[in-house]
Amino acid sequence: MKVLVVGSGGREHALCWKIAQSPLLSELLCAPGNAGSAAVARNVAVDATDVEGLVRLAREEAVDLVVVGPEDPLCMGLADELHAAGIDTFGPTRRGAELEGSKAFAKDLLDRSRIPTATWRQFDRSGPAKAYLESCQQWPQVVKADGLAAGKGVFICADATEACRAVDAVMEEKRLGEAGARVVIEEFLEGEEATVQAITDGEAVLILEPVVDHKQVGEGDEGPNTGGMGVYSPAPSLTRRLLRQIEQRILIPAIHGLRTEGVDFRGVLYAGLMITEQGPKVLEFNVRFGDPEAQAVVRRFKEDLLPYLLATAQGTLGELDPPEWDPRFAVGVVGASEGYPGVYRKGDAISGTDAADTLEEVVTFHAGTTVGPDGLQTSGGRVLCVTALGDDIETARERAYGAYDAIEWSGKFCRRDIGTRVEARKERISAMLEKAKGEGSGSLEGVGAARPALDPAREGA
Ligand code: AMP
Ligand code: GLY
Repeated sequence: MKVLVVGSGGREHALCWKIAQSPLLSELLCAPGNAGSAAVARNVAVDATDVEGLVRLAREEAVDLVVVGPEDPLCMGLADELHAAGIDTFGPTRRGAELEGSKAFAKDLLDRSRIPTATWRQFDRSGPAKAYLESCQQWPQVVKADGLAAGKGVFICADATEACRAVDAVMEEKRLGEAGARVVIEEFLEGEEATVQAITDGEAVLILEPVVDHKQVGEGDEGPNTGGMGVYSPAPSLTRRLLRQIEQRILIPAIHGLRTEGVDFRGVLYAGLMITEQGPKVLEFNVRFGDPEAQAVVRRFKEDLLPYLLATAQGTLGELDPPEWDPRFAVGVVGASEGYPGVYRKGDAISGTDAADTLEEVVTFHAGTTVGPDGLQTSGGRVLCVTALGDDIETARERAYGAYDAIEWSGKFCRRDIGTRVEARKERISAMLEKAKGEGSGSLEGVGAARPALDPAREGA
């Protein structure tokens, strides 16, 4: 089978690395890919947002399956165009991708499907938005640009002055361009954040082993948000019971809601959640694997991933047995370039990746790397993600940091606290859920006994 992976980040290198191990594969292409994907796939210089170019490539190369990494091409309708060309695609159509591409679309679907989320209002003019904010009694409030804003579209505002300033920046000064033509204003939720990724063919749902991302650039979760500075998996705080609840109350109703809208969703449903004293509530949906969450997933997914991707694209996911997961811990440490997530350095020579990969249970996934005249060099803010497995989280951490330290480039930095405070987090989440039980709402009634594995649960099962 010939497969094309679309994208150029660490997530796409990880997907290529995993797919390349499949005995079903005849050839793997990556567009445009990076220096890491080039080692396991044939990189083709077509940009991930060049929908026409990608469809042409898939046709000319007679590709059997396209696996789309990032959200932008999905929001631009890549899957629709590939379907029109008769090519199986892992990734939702444009309307499905609106779940990530439009906060208002997502909130509407959540309300209609009675899925717990922060109460919200939407505005497409700044005057009424500000008048509403002036009338708010409860603070903070959260102002969100409706469209894709690469993580820069959310403002948690302490009072009306700050919130009105955010509305002005987004709607009047258009700092986020078209993404800010509409805003969603929602209630601030208190609790612990968690994410859950599932793959679905629009009917069967397969929850993936949970991965915890570290979003802020600085240790102790300080500083601005990034795409993700590191990950660990599994997440002891997300018990089987809680996952089951999330599946029944959030994922399955969301997929059902999409189907009611005529959307046949085939790909990743990634739920960003707040575990509150009323139980889990949805903050946002993404419609693709997280980056670097995917890097941890592929390290722990013991089976051939390709049949799962194909079945998702073809609508036959329910026919597959649940996959086996490596019970060990995976830790992924992102190495970034000085300045990230702001303006960062580029073009610095990288050394040591080959030596790092010889270390026990280590795999380095490239992100912003390219091959220049003098060899491997940096080309992005997040340069690579060093992953390692270990019987316990400490071992996985030591291996990952050991390998990270073997790699060099000027301006390199990482967070040193990836995979720490795992137990504290578990305690905070279980305390939240205890309160939820006490209040009656968010109780676990009706949720079956935890199943041994994360089995694909047919709707209503
Ligand atoms: P989003 O892109 O919607 O996930 O928002 C980015 C980040 O903003 C989340 O990861 C949360 O940390 C925070 N956030 C978003 N919405 C809320 C909310 N309603 N209450 C509290 N924090 C929020
Ligand atoms: N790591 C978070 C994301 O991919 O959205």
